[in-house]
Amino acid sequence: MLKTILITGASGRIGSALVNYTNTLEQKYDLRLADLQISNQQGIQIDVTDLSSCREACQGIDTVIHLAGIACPDSTFEETLHTNIVGTYNIFEAAFQTKVRRVVYASSAQVVEGYPLDTQVNTDMPVRPKNIYGVSKAYGEAVAAYYAYQKNIEAIAVRIGAFYDPDAWTHLDSRDLSAWANPEDLCSLLINCIEADLTAEPFVIAHGISNNRFKRLDLSDTKRLLGYAPEADSFSHWNVPFHNDSQPKS
Ligand SMILES: NC(=O)c1ccc[n+]([C@@H]2O[C@H](COP(=O)([O-])OP(=O)(O)OC[C@H]3O[C@@H](n4cnc5c(N)ncnc54)[C@H](O)[C@@H]3O)[C@@H](O)[C@H]2O)c1
Repeated sequence: MLKTILITGASGRIGSALVNYTNTLEQKYDLRLADLQISNQQGIQIDVTDLSSCREACQGIDTVIHLAGIACPDSTFEETLHTNIVGTYNIFEAAFQTKVRRVVYASSAQVVEGYPLDTQVNTDMPVRPKNIYGVSKAYGEAVAAYYAYQKNIEAIAVRIGAFYDPDAWTHLDSRDLSAWANPEDLCSLLINCIEADLTAEPFVIAHGISNNRFKRLDLSDTKRLLGYAPEADSFSHWNVPFHNDSQPKS
């Protein structure tokens, strides 16, 4: 039987990319697409600030990929409060009440963006948000850990970096290059998050960036625990020149 997957925030940038990506896979899923704004009748309308709406959406679901959220790093506390704080609690609580096996939570690199730019962040470093949006995502990671360790729901918090379509992104800076999450790489990681064996540890923090030559976030845990094999490298893709690339003279 196909695994039933609920994608919240399915109409958004990452949700749409993920839905397209699943169409390319041999492994098929029974997708339930949910968003505040669903077009063309392709999915269900959900407001994650409403627990009963979440409960209904979670019925019969194996894995929730929780993308619905206010995604802007400049958001105020009031802007993040309902969707990111209340909504994330609601999704995990609804998943618990309806016996969902696993929740994959869209966290953000902003959870640790307060570290200096010359520091590569590992998954075991304390959170250090640079903005209130990052604080709201750190809260979501705590909710995920709570439900994993206290309520027996498997949970993965994916700290997504700078998600940009390579053809559309023209405003490049060094931070975003090192945190770039190519759509195909990120989608492959989200699929791995459905399939990974979490019997050893019910809660995992994953780093969702590509195989960039310089990496804002360390990928070793994500590769080891989730079988992540990113391919894209922002620095090659945008042809950032390196003058010391040649082999050292012997
Ligand atoms: N895009 C990035 O670079 C990036 C980076 C890090 C983390 N993230 C996280 O990934 C997730 C998806 O990001 P995105 O770029 O696709 O964002 P997006 O803004 O394109 O999509 C978010 C979706 O959530 C929906 N939504 C908002 N409030 C809702 C509510 N109350 N109930 C139901 N649905 C609601 C919106 O309608 C929208 O379709 C977000 O949680 C975001 O914080 C994104």
